Amino acid sequence: MLLVSNWKAYIESPKEAKELLAVAKKIARAGVHTIVIAPPSAYLGFFTKEQEVSLSLAAQDISETQSGAHTGEITAGLLSGMDVFYTILGHSERRAKGEIDSMVAAKTQQALLHKIIPIVCIGEKVRDENGAYLQGLRAQISAIYEAAPQKDRSKIIFAYEPIWAIGKSSCESITPADLREMILYIRKVIGEMITPTVALKVKILYGGSVSKINAKELTESSGVQGLLIGHASIDPKEMIAISKVVE
Ligand code: PGA
Repeated sequence: MLLVSNWKAYIESPKEAKELLAVAKKIARAGVHTIVIAPPSAYLGFFTKEQEVSLSLAAQDISETQSGAHTGEITAGLLSGMDVFYTILGHSERRAKGEIDSMVAAKTQQALLHKIIPIVCIGEKVRDENGAYLQGLRAQISAIYEAAPQKDRSKIIFAYEPIWAIGKSSCESITPADLREMILYIRKVIGEMITPTVALKVKILYGGSVSKINAKELTESSGVQGLLIGHASIDPKEMIAISKVVE
Protein backbone atom coordinates (compact mmCIF):
# COMPACT_ATOMS: atom_id res chain seq x y z
CA MET A 1 0.00 0.00 0.00
CA LEU A 2 0.98 3.60 -0.48
CA LEU A 3 0.79 5.30 2.92
CA VAL A 4 0.96 9.08 2.67
CA SER A 5 1.47 11.03 5.90
CA ASN A 6 0.09 14.54 5.67
CA TRP A 7 1.65 16.39 8.60
CA LYS A 8 -0.31 19.53 7.64
CA ALA A 9 0.79 22.40 9.92
CA TYR A 10 0.80 20.23 13.03
CA ILE A 11 4.59 20.22 13.33
CA GLU A 12 6.30 23.30 14.66
CA SER A 13 9.74 22.11 15.68
CA PRO A 14 12.55 20.49 13.70
CA LYS A 15 12.97 18.03 16.57
CA GLU A 16 9.42 16.76 16.18
CA ALA A 17 9.83 16.53 12.40
CA LYS A 18 13.02 14.49 12.79
CA GLU A 19 11.36 12.13 15.26
CA LEU A 20 8.53 11.52 12.83
CA LEU A 21 11.02 10.95 10.04
CA ALA A 22 12.68 8.24 12.14
CA VAL A 23 9.30 6.51 12.52
CA ALA A 24 8.65 6.75 8.78
CA LYS A 25 12.07 5.21 8.06
CA LYS A 26 11.38 2.38 10.45
CA ILE A 27 8.07 1.59 8.73
CA ALA A 28 9.65 1.90 5.29
CA ARG A 29 12.46 -0.50 6.22
CA ALA A 30 9.95 -3.22 7.02
CA GLY A 31 9.55 -3.26 3.24
CA VAL A 32 5.79 -3.86 3.20
CA HIS A 33 4.53 -0.41 2.18
CA THR A 34 5.65 2.58 0.16
CA ILE A 35 5.86 5.44 2.66
CA VAL A 36 5.45 9.06 1.62
CA ILE A 37 5.84 11.89 4.09
CA ALA A 38 4.46 15.36 3.43
CA PRO A 39 6.05 17.67 5.99
CA PRO A 40 5.40 21.43 6.09
CA SER A 41 7.41 22.91 3.20
CA ALA A 42 9.91 24.62 5.50
CA TYR A 43 11.14 21.18 6.57
CA LEU A 44 11.44 19.56 3.15
CA GLY A 45 15.09 20.63 2.91
CA PHE A 46 16.00 18.67 6.06
CA PHE A 47 15.03 15.41 4.51
CA THR A 48 16.16 15.52 0.94
CA LYS A 49 19.35 13.55 1.49
CA GLU A 50 17.72 11.09 3.83
CA GLN A 51 15.50 9.23 1.44
CA GLU A 52 15.67 5.50 1.18
CA VAL A 53 14.01 2.85 -0.89
CA SER A 54 10.27 2.84 -0.03
CA LEU A 55 10.39 6.31 1.55
CA SER A 56 9.69 9.44 -0.47
CA LEU A 57 9.00 13.05 0.16
CA ALA A 58 5.89 14.96 -0.84
CA ALA A 59 5.04 18.64 -0.81
CA GLN A 60 1.67 19.56 0.67
CA ASP A 61 1.04 21.95 -2.21
CA ILE A 62 2.92 23.61 -5.05
CA SER A 63 2.64 26.84 -6.99
CA GLU A 64 0.63 27.20 -10.17
CA THR A 65 3.43 29.31 -11.58
CA GLN A 66 6.79 28.68 -13.17
CA SER A 67 9.91 30.28 -11.72
CA GLY A 68 9.92 34.08 -11.84
CA ALA A 69 8.86 37.14 -9.89
CA HIS A 70 6.40 35.37 -7.59
CA THR A 71 7.28 36.18 -3.99
CA GLY A 72 6.40 33.41 -1.59
CA GLU A 73 5.63 30.77 -4.20
CA ILE A 74 7.14 27.29 -4.07
CA THR A 75 7.48 26.04 -7.62
CA ALA A 76 7.51 22.47 -8.90
CA GLY A 77 10.93 23.16 -10.47
CA LEU A 78 12.37 24.11 -7.09
CA LEU A 79 10.92 21.01 -5.45
CA SER A 80 12.03 18.57 -8.10
CA GLY A 81 15.59 19.81 -7.53
CA MET A 82 15.15 18.83 -3.86
CA ASP A 83 14.19 15.20 -4.54
CA VAL A 84 10.53 15.81 -3.82
CA PHE A 85 8.83 12.98 -5.63
CA TYR A 86 5.13 13.64 -4.94
CA THR A 87 2.89 16.56 -4.18
CA ILE A 88 -0.53 16.68 -2.60
CA LEU A 89 -2.77 18.99 -4.63
CA GLY A 90 -6.28 20.37 -4.18
CA HIS A 91 -6.53 19.39 -0.54
CA SER A 92 -9.88 20.50 0.87
CA GLU A 93 -8.07 22.76 3.32
CA ARG A 94 -6.54 24.60 0.33
CA ARG A 95 -9.83 24.58 -1.56
CA ALA A 96 -11.46 26.13 1.53
CA LYS A 97 -9.02 29.03 1.09
CA GLY A 98 -10.26 29.68 -2.43
CA GLU A 99 -8.48 27.14 -4.59
CA ILE A 100 -10.72 26.11 -7.48
CA ASP A 101 -10.52 23.22 -9.96
CA SER A 102 -8.71 25.26 -12.64
CA MET A 103 -5.99 26.15 -10.14
CA VAL A 104 -5.61 22.51 -9.07
CA ALA A 105 -5.40 21.60 -12.76
CA ALA A 106 -2.67 24.20 -13.39
CA LYS A 107 -0.71 22.87 -10.41
CA THR A 108 -1.10 19.33 -11.73
CA GLN A 109 0.38 20.49 -15.05
CA GLN A 110 3.33 22.07 -13.27
CA ALA A 111 3.95 18.94 -11.21
CA LEU A 112 3.87 16.64 -14.25
CA LEU A 113 6.13 18.98 -16.19
CA HIS A 114 8.73 18.59 -13.45
CA LYS A 115 8.21 14.84 -13.01
CA ILE A 116 6.55 15.18 -9.61
CA ILE A 117 3.66 12.79 -9.10
CA PRO A 118 0.47 14.66 -8.21
CA ILE A 119 -1.78 13.24 -5.48
CA VAL A 120 -4.97 15.12 -6.28
CA CYS A 121 -7.56 15.31 -3.50
CA ILE A 122 -11.18 15.11 -4.49
CA GLY A 123 -14.25 14.80 -2.31
CA GLU A 124 -17.66 16.15 -1.49
CA LYS A 125 -18.59 18.50 1.35
CA VAL A 126 -21.91 16.81 1.97
CA ARG A 127 -24.00 14.06 0.38
CA ASP A 128 -27.37 14.87 -1.10
CA GLU A 129 -30.11 12.41 -1.92
CA ASN A 130 -30.15 13.34 -5.61
CA GLY A 131 -26.52 12.39 -6.05
CA ALA A 132 -25.33 15.87 -7.09
CA TYR A 133 -22.16 15.15 -5.12
CA LEU A 134 -21.31 12.44 -7.63
CA GLN A 135 -21.46 15.01 -10.43
CA GLY A 136 -19.22 17.26 -8.34
CA LEU A 137 -16.62 14.50 -8.08
CA ARG A 138 -16.84 13.89 -11.81
CA ALA A 139 -16.19 17.60 -12.45
CA GLN A 140 -13.17 17.59 -10.15
CA ILE A 141 -11.65 14.62 -12.01
CA SER A 142 -12.51 16.00 -15.43
CA ALA A 143 -10.80 19.36 -14.70
CA ILE A 144 -7.58 17.52 -13.94
CA TYR A 145 -7.61 15.27 -17.02
CA GLU A 146 -8.49 18.11 -19.36
CA ALA A 147 -5.30 19.89 -18.32
CA ALA A 148 -3.00 16.86 -18.19
CA PRO A 149 -1.16 15.54 -21.24
CA GLN A 150 -2.53 12.18 -22.41
CA LYS A 151 0.77 10.39 -21.79
CA ASP A 152 0.88 11.48 -18.15
CA ARG A 153 -2.70 10.81 -17.14
CA SER A 154 -2.16 7.39 -15.64
CA LYS A 155 0.54 8.82 -13.34
CA ILE A 156 -1.91 11.04 -11.50
CA ILE A 157 -2.98 9.61 -8.15
CA PHE A 158 -6.40 10.54 -6.80
CA ALA A 159 -7.08 10.72 -3.08
CA TYR A 160 -10.76 10.43 -2.30
CA GLU A 161 -11.26 12.53 0.81
CA PRO A 162 -14.89 13.24 1.67
CA ILE A 163 -14.68 16.55 3.51
CA TRP A 164 -17.28 15.51 6.07
CA ALA A 165 -14.99 12.67 7.14
CA ILE A 166 -11.79 14.70 7.64
CA GLY A 167 -10.35 15.40 11.07
CA LYS A 168 -12.85 13.31 12.98
CA SER A 169 -12.72 10.14 15.05
CA SER A 170 -12.65 6.79 13.29
CA CYS A 171 -16.32 6.08 14.05
CA GLU A 172 -17.31 9.19 12.04
CA SER A 173 -15.28 8.14 9.02
CA ILE A 174 -16.76 6.53 5.92
CA THR A 175 -17.98 2.92 6.17
CA PRO A 176 -16.04 0.28 4.22
CA ALA A 177 -19.15 -0.48 2.12
CA ASP A 178 -19.64 3.18 1.15
CA LEU A 179 -15.95 3.53 0.39
CA ARG A 180 -16.06 0.51 -1.90
CA GLU A 181 -18.96 2.03 -3.81
CA MET A 182 -17.20 5.37 -4.13
CA ILE A 183 -13.96 3.82 -5.37
CA LEU A 184 -15.90 1.84 -7.98
CA TYR A 185 -17.62 5.03 -9.09
CA ILE A 186 -14.38 7.03 -9.24
CA ARG A 187 -12.63 4.30 -11.22
CA LYS A 188 -15.58 4.14 -13.63
CA VAL A 189 -15.39 7.91 -14.18
CA ILE A 190 -11.65 7.69 -14.71
CA GLY A 191 -12.23 4.86 -17.20
CA GLU A 192 -14.58 7.05 -19.20
CA MET A 193 -12.05 9.87 -19.30
CA ILE A 194 -8.94 7.87 -20.09
CA THR A 195 -9.46 4.25 -21.11
CA PRO A 196 -10.85 1.46 -18.91
CA THR A 197 -7.59 -0.52 -19.15
CA VAL A 198 -5.41 2.44 -18.21
CA ALA A 199 -7.91 3.36 -15.48
CA LEU A 200 -7.15 0.08 -13.76
CA LYS A 201 -3.56 1.27 -13.30
CA VAL A 202 -4.51 4.58 -11.70
CA LYS A 203 -3.88 4.62 -7.97
CA ILE A 204 -6.74 5.77 -5.78
CA LEU A 205 -6.18 6.50 -2.10
CA TYR A 206 -8.61 7.15 0.69
CA GLY A 207 -8.23 9.89 3.31
CA GLY A 208 -10.45 11.06 6.15
CA SER A 209 -10.03 10.05 9.80
CA VAL A 210 -7.94 6.99 9.12
CA SER A 211 -6.64 5.39 12.31
CA LYS A 212 -5.38 2.06 13.53
CA ILE A 213 -9.01 1.19 14.34
CA ASN A 214 -10.42 1.52 10.81
CA ALA A 215 -7.36 1.23 8.53
CA LYS A 216 -7.71 -2.51 7.99
CA GLU A 217 -11.41 -2.52 7.15
CA LEU A 218 -11.06 0.54 4.92
CA THR A 219 -8.37 -1.09 2.83
CA GLU A 220 -9.15 -4.79 2.69
CA SER A 221 -11.88 -4.81 0.08
CA SER A 222 -12.50 -1.22 -0.92
CA GLY A 223 -10.23 -1.25 -3.96
CA VAL A 224 -7.91 1.53 -2.72
CA GLN A 225 -4.16 1.38 -3.31
CA GLY A 226 -3.30 3.40 -0.23
CA LEU A 227 -4.23 5.90 2.44
CA LEU A 228 -3.74 9.62 3.00
CA ILE A 229 -3.40 10.03 6.73
CA GLY A 230 -3.72 13.35 8.55
CA HIS A 231 -3.85 13.69 12.32
CA ALA A 232 -2.95 10.05 12.98
CA SER A 233 0.25 10.52 10.96
CA ILE A 234 1.86 12.66 13.64
CA ASP A 235 1.35 10.01 16.30
CA PRO A 236 4.21 7.49 16.00
CA LYS A 237 2.30 4.68 17.74
CA GLU A 238 -0.71 5.17 15.46
CA MET A 239 1.43 5.15 12.31
CA ILE A 240 3.26 2.00 13.31
CA ALA A 241 -0.05 0.32 14.17
CA ILE A 242 -1.64 1.41 10.88
CA SER A 243 1.31 0.04 8.92
CA LYS A 244 0.89 -3.29 10.68
CA VAL A 245 -2.86 -3.72 10.25
CA VAL A 246 -2.88 -2.73 6.59
CA GLU A 247 -1.87 -5.47 4.19
P1 PGA B 1 -7.38 13.35 8.80
O1 PGA B 1 -6.89 14.19 7.55
O2 PGA B 1 -6.74 12.00 8.72
O3 PGA B 1 -6.92 14.15 9.98
O4 PGA B 1 -8.86 13.25 8.70
C1 PGA B 1 -6.75 13.62 6.28
C2 PGA B 1 -6.42 14.71 5.31
O5 PGA B 1 -6.96 15.82 5.46
O6 PGA B 1 -5.61 14.52 4.39
